[in-house]
Amino acid sequence: MTSSPTSEQPVPGGDAPVGDLAGYEVVVGICGGIAAYKVCSVVSALVQRGCGVTCVMTRSATRFVTPLTFEALSGRKALRSLWRPDYAYDPQHIRLTDNADLFLIAPATANIIAKAACGLADDLLSTLLTAVGCPVIVAPAMNDRMWANRVVQANVSRLRELDFEIVGPGEGWLACRSRGAGRMEEADVLVDAVVKRLKTLPKKNAER
Ligand SMILES: Cc1cc2nc3c(=O)[nH]c(=O)nc-3n(C[C@H](O)[C@H](O)[C@H](O)COP(=O)(O)O)c2cc1C
Repeated sequence: MTSSPTSEQPVPGGDAPVGDLAGYEVVVGICGGIAAYKVCSVVSALVQRGCGVTCVMTRSATRFVTPLTFEALSGRKALRSLWRPDYAYDPQHIRLTDNADLFLIAPATANIIAKAACGLADDLLSTLLTAVGCPVIVAPAMNDRMWANRVVQANVSRLRELDFEIVGPGEGWLACRSRGAGRMEEADVLVDAVVKRLKTLPKKNAER
């Protein structure tokens, strides 16, 4: 009997690289923004350093980058739904949070920031965030007026109070063809933030 790969089963076709992040498990949550394309480089860089990376995509994220791209880069299924039949008896939203050393949410939309700030759990990624037991790095990305919105700022402040690490956003050229604050940090900045935080943590999966 064949079965679909789970988050812990590599997609066939390559050995896991050995590197300084070997043994760490990171969940990368990708949301629906143009900056999703930059997260491909983040996933690739972490995998090249030996990190186990599981990508979780919102429905909107799949409008920007295909799951196949993240599957090819991570060597694992890109998870998108709580309701996939092959996971019906496997509460992956709990299992993924058990195994993860770190979550990175990038690009973090105004929507996921709001959901995380109030504990809303209406899709796989937001449900995972309600069960998370490890540090979470959030990389906001949005239009400058969205970023300046007082509700968005209040939600970001709430996440900081809850010990989410907020990386960026920076200022610069935005996808809406204007300049301002709201541009997601570049891939190398996100990788550095992930690596810096991982190196402060014991490997949860070291004994497995
Ligand atoms: C072309 C386009 C670009 C978008 N870029 C962003 C963005 O950078 N940041 C953001 O917060 N929302 C952006 N949105 C809106 C989100 O996709 C929308 O709020 C969506 O509901 C977010 O869902 P998610 O958080 O589940 O991914 C964009 C929408 C479109 C159509």
